[in-house]
Amino acid sequence: MALVAETITYSYGGGSSSVPPPEPAVDGFSASFEHGRVSAIMGPNGCGKTTLAKLLVGILKPLHGEVILDGTNLVGLTLAETGKRVGLVMQQPGRQLFCTSVKDEIEFGLKCLELSQEETEQRKNKYLEYFGLQQYEDRFPFELSTGEKQRLVIAAVVCMQPDYLILDEPTSALDRGRKRALGALLRRLSKDENTGVILISHDEWFVSEYADGVTVMDHGRIVCRKESMR
Ligand SMILES: Nc1ncnc2c1ncn2[C@@H]1O[C@H](COP(=O)(O)OP(=O)(O)OP(=O)(O)O)[C@@H](O)[C@H]1O
Ligand SMILES: [Mg+2]
Repeated sequence: MALVAETITYSYGGGSSSVPPPEPAVDGFSASFEHGRVSAIMGPNGCGKTTLAKLLVGILKPLHGEVILDGTNLVGLTLAETGKRVGLVMQQPGRQLFCTSVKDEIEFGLKCLELSQEETEQRKNKYLEYFGLQQYEDRFPFELSTGEKQRLVIAAVVCMQPDYLILDEPTSALDRGRKRALGALLRRLSKDENTGVILISHDEWFVSEYADGVTVMDHGRIVCRKESMR
């Protein structure tokens, strides 16, 4: 079982008679993201990492190729069905926040899972505490610092316990201590709970410390794959 991209291609806009079509943002990309592993994706700005993340969670549909989630083609699933199984932490955390308090932000996703009140409370408190956000639980999310927003978005996605967790530049606003806490969590989720973690990052230290393997992209294509040297 895996989240599999089979030669997927995506292009933004089709061009016109006077403007040539842009080169594909993702171009014939194939990879199998397994349960129980932290799989990193690296590559220069504009190489297609965020586009790939959106394709893997079904926000964008490939023009060619398929995304297969544990044996099921994503085209056969609604965005809500995919979203319960594949969590996405977006690159700009502010864009993923829309509730009026920090605790509502975490409870929103949990309510969609229709958990008991007790389970909802327990998960909310666990992740507020893990990400050091308890003292802010009644605060308006937009008043948080950038790093606090980033931790809140990660907490809100992780608490839903998706089978696959895609994180797009999750450490960009975190200090070293918070990065270590996130890395330890990703390791625990992948090793103890069998989550398939897909880590998109420019952070070479974080990737070398916490990823089991790295796929390097350029111009929408895979340049190389490396297993971790840890
Ligand atoms: N909404 C959009 N409309 C048109 N072009 C887009 C759009 N989003 C991304 N692109 C283009 O697609 C290409 C891939 O962008 P993408 O955001 O996937 O790259 P990235 O690897 O995530 O970059 P970064 O490291 O800066 O986050 C780029 O050339 C970008 O300009
Ligand atoms: Mg990006």
